[in-house]
Amino acid sequence: MRETHTNADMSHQNGILYKISVFFTSLKNNGVLPTIRKISQRIEYKRKGIDFSTQNIYDLTRTGEYQEHGTALVSTSIDFLTQLLNDLEKAVGKPINKDVFVDYGSGKGAAIIHAKQLGFEKSIGVEFAKELHDQAEQNIKKLNLENVHSLYADATTYVLPNDISVIYLFNPFDEVVMTKVIENIQKQQESFESDVYVIYGNASCTVLRETFELLDEQVYPSGAKAEFYKI
Ligand SMILES: C[S@@+](CC[C@H](N)C(=O)[O-])C[C@H]1O[C@@H](n2cnc3c(N)ncnc32)[C@H](O)[C@@H]1O
Repeated sequence: MRETHTNADMSHQNGILYKISVFFTSLKNNGVLPTIRKISQRIEYKRKGIDFSTQNIYDLTRTGEYQEHGTALVSTSIDFLTQLLNDLEKAVGKPINKDVFVDYGSGKGAAIIHAKQLGFEKSIGVEFAKELHDQAEQNIKKLNLENVHSLYADATTYVLPNDISVIYLFNPFDEVVMTKVIENIQKQQESFESDVYVIYGNASCTVLRETFELLDEQVYPSGAKAEFYKI
């Protein structure tokens, strides 16, 4: 198999040993109560049939020109998104506007679902793998959420809404796609109605750093990283 971003095998993250190691890391880093909260939410999601599990994408149906430039699906947890939004507000120095949250490469919809639960009026995800988008739609339906939308599209074709507040990128693709996405954002910048911020998790390319104002960057005890930008 040709080694590309897309072919990265992340399926070990669904194995029992990986889950046990995540449990002990969470106990160590977050303490007992947050770990119990996390586990009870997992159980609740399992009961409702919500699926945010890690998935390789090389055998999925992908739309658009950049099928070999995307990363495997790893979903953002609600605790991690909470942390990221808190750190963004710290970096900005004031509460951020929570009109619209957009996730480029939204997988099974974890981040857009959590964003809505964390107070955004509306959240939109753009996902190029059909099976992941379908699962996102099912997850949204099972949780009975309004104003949470998964779109089946390539990220480079997406036009942001004027009332966008936060753009989220959880290391979804390489610099080829990132460059195109940033060019599109720049073209639309004039029409944004308020300040727009970008959270770039587990950054793998430097295009954002070369384009927008870096407000802060963090490395978390779990090893995850994030960069925070103002457009
Ligand atoms: C690391 S996962 C992040 C999932 C989600 N953002 C979350 O945090 O739960 C990256 C996702 O980006 C998607 N992706 C990769 N390239 C894409 C593209 N060009 N357009 C849209 N989605 C893409 C992949 O299919 C995968 O679901």
